[in-house]
Amino acid sequence: MKTKSNELKVLSSIAPADETTAIPNGADEYIRIATAILIRVTGPLPFDIFIQRAENKYTKIFHCDQTLDVGQVKRYHEEKAVKFFYVHNSAQETYSHYVEKLLEASLADPSQLTPRAMRSILNEMINISLDTLYTKTHIDHKGVQFAATAIKGCTQLLEQDFDGLCRIMKLLSSRPYSLKHSFMVSLFSLLLARGLDYESERTLINLGTGALLHDIGMTRVRQDLVTKVDLNSEEFKEIKEHTHLGVRIVDGIKKGITTEIRSIILQHHEQPNGYGYPNGLTDRDIFPLAKIVTIADVFCSLITESPYSRAPLTTQEALKQMQEERGRFDQNFLKVFIKILQPREMSIDEKSELIN
Ligand SMILES: [Fe+2]
Repeated sequence: MKTKSNELKVLSSIAPADETTAIPNGADEYIRIATAILIRVTGPLPFDIFIQRAENKYTKIFHCDQTLDVGQVKRYHEEKAVKFFYVHNSAQETYSHYVEKLLEASLADPSQLTPRAMRSILNEMINISLDTLYTKTHIDHKGVQFAATAIKGCTQLLEQDFDGLCRIMKLLSSRPYSLKHSFMVSLFSLLLARGLDYESERTLINLGTGALLHDIGMTRVRQDLVTKVDLNSEEFKEIKEHTHLGVRIVDGIKKGITTEIRSIILQHHEQPNGYGYPNGLTDRDIFPLAKIVTIADVFCSLITESPYSRAPLTTQEALKQMQEERGRFDQNFLKVFIKILQPREMSIDEKSELIN
């Protein structure tokens, strides 16, 4: 087994550390939110806002439904030296929705959206996904840092073509839960790749970006079909088309979209037993990075709330269900995925890292 001591060093060359990334510690009841997002709130607040007074002590400063006074936010920030604002864990989904809606509204007129504002919104989607990852699983702190750094490298790759990025984000934010699902799948794919000792920077960026874009074709499928439970064969045929549609969409993006990313989008519903789609490929013909995304995609759908699934499962329930679906997933990859998601004791080093 290789050590992972150098992996962050390697990735930090593509995604330098950014102070706006709040790596959660799993024990927090409150989620840190970006001031850049808060000052963009218009109309009544959809959640309460808190500030931290002392360790584990938070005070509500703005109430849900109150119309936010941005001047007051700035005064807290500038005069009272309040660096961070928070929402309660229970408002996580509401906050996540709010950020998606904010992105959608900002993209209605992309000429008004600066690259910096786009980066704030994307960083916040990463933070929200990291919080969910920490709340739902027992991933170690270093793993989360790794995934956070790697996914930033992926968004920076897409930022090289700002118009293309705007088009992608416009599509993803047009469907409820789609944007957060994309970020979650990307994070879990990167964590699985880490568990499999994938080290190449190029491979990790292709994987994370392919995972972000894996379901972009679904945004071109009729919404009523996406949420329908019992699809007839004609309707299922339309759903299956999302893999080809996804490739067609990214073909319109000029920079950064590689053959590997296209293969992930095309093959993320293939199954080693040959019962997948669109081409019914069998085990060794499926691109390994697509197999990783398949596992992350199904897992994220099972553990998170969405209009397309029943009540979310716990991590252990989801993994058990996936283990029972033999043939749908690469068994070796699934074993590693299960291993990295097992509850475990933190090492002394990890504990002291969290305290500091
Ligand atoms: Fe899909």
